Amino acid sequence: MSDKRTLGIGMVGYGFIGKVHTLSYLNLSYYYNPMPAKLKMIGVASVPKKEAEEGVEQAGFEFATDNWKDLIARDDIDIIEVCTPNYLHKEIIIEALKAGKHVNCEKPLAMNLDEAKEITKVADSHPELISQVTFEYRYQPAMMRAKRLIEEGFLGRVYSARIAYLHSGNSDPNRPLYWKIQKKFCGGGALYDLSSHVIDLTRFLLGDFKRVFSKLEIFTKERPIAGKPGQFGKVDVEDLALTVFELENGAIGTIEGSKVATGANDEYRIEIHGDKGAIRFNSMQPNFLEVYDTRDAGEPIGGRRGFTAIETVQRYPKPATQFPGPKFSIGWMRYHSGNAMDFVTNIVEHKRPEADMHAGYKIQEVLEAAQISDKEKRWVDLPVEN
Ligand SMILES: NC(=O)c1ccc[n+]([C@@H]2O[C@H](COP(=O)([O-])OP(=O)(O)OC[C@H]3O[C@@H](n4cnc5c(N)ncnc54)[C@H](O)[C@@H]3O)[C@@H](O)[C@H]2O)c1
Repeated sequence: MSDKRTLGIGMVGYGFIGKVHTLSYLNLSYYYNPMPAKLKMIGVASVPKKEAEEGVEQAGFEFATDNWKDLIARDDIDIIEVCTPNYLHKEIIIEALKAGKHVNCEKPLAMNLDEAKEITKVADSHPELISQVTFEYRYQPAMMRAKRLIEEGFLGRVYSARIAYLHSGNSDPNRPLYWKIQKKFCGGGALYDLSSHVIDLTRFLLGDFKRVFSKLEIFTKERPIAGKPGQFGKVDVEDLALTVFELENGAIGTIEGSKVATGANDEYRIEIHGDKGAIRFNSMQPNFLEVYDTRDAGEPIGGRRGFTAIETVQRYPKPATQFPGPKFSIGWMRYHSGNAMDFVTNIVEHKRPEADMHAGYKIQEVLEAAQISDKEKRWVDLPVEN
């Protein structure tokens, strides 16, 4: 009999990302062995309840409910996973923390900076609990390698970064209205949904933001309402967010978050240039981090200089297992398992997560600054007063 601690999991929201988080937990003991704790899928809450019942079928949760408070009330649930639309994050996180649960919340942390502040305050008053924000790209081997290289000084002085996160879902003007383009549910559009990820990565790799200037554009201002022929609803958040930024370290750059990048699938690109080298990455080629080193000989006839592809593939450091093996190509789900493992380890070892609520707050601050900048057509300095 193992004397390992058991952590009971309560999943709130069983739409797209609720399923992703659930599958990550189910897979985890293959990727990490031994596991620091046993995991038990206890309850799943979603609206409509039918969706939660699917979770019972698919993942073996013990029960389904359409009331997330049923999960928080259970003594055998230690972890609350917040996988709902953004407008519900704050209430669920705060109630969960107050009930003594560890919390893993999806990005963006909240609807605005005021909400994020409330959340961090409650999290700070519960230092015995672990609360983390899901920024799964931090657990991508290529990004883990990039961070190490940058910390070792590979880039030298960083001059600039050119960053984009591209989707094409809103390119079709006939796509019906959905919650991610209605401000009352999401708080922001492409900026919140896509830029938030790469703002986090920029901060993860290069440090804090100093100021931003943004232009947010809604290309399709009305969309059909699903199931109501001839009826249209207002779109009040951007399809595309362009942000120019300056970092504390003096580097400058751009971030584009776009849902009208026709032809794109789920693609983020990062290009960083320093005086000693450069790094570039495209998430559609996730097995390789490209690096350029000015210290390589440029002669004769180009010498050995040029972008080189480092095979980061599935080369996770320990405690990851060698399953399925470092040579097998990597996929998007694997990064979520990295996030889940980090969260579970932080709980067992009582370690403060790197992507804690304060990290979520920092990203929220950049999102808010970008919204203010667009509205007032000016540069906005960080930190934003609120
Ligand atoms: N990290 C990532 O890569 C990533 C990717 C997609 C979405 N997200 C984030 O995940 C969150 C959810 O997005 P999604 O794409 O899964 O949306 P979704 O619409 O697919 O799923 C949301 C689910 O929440 C459920 N829900 C709504 N109200 C509820 C309530 N009161 N109680 C319980 N469940 C309720 C809905 O029924 C729905 O199934 C958002 O915050 C989003 O930004 C993150």
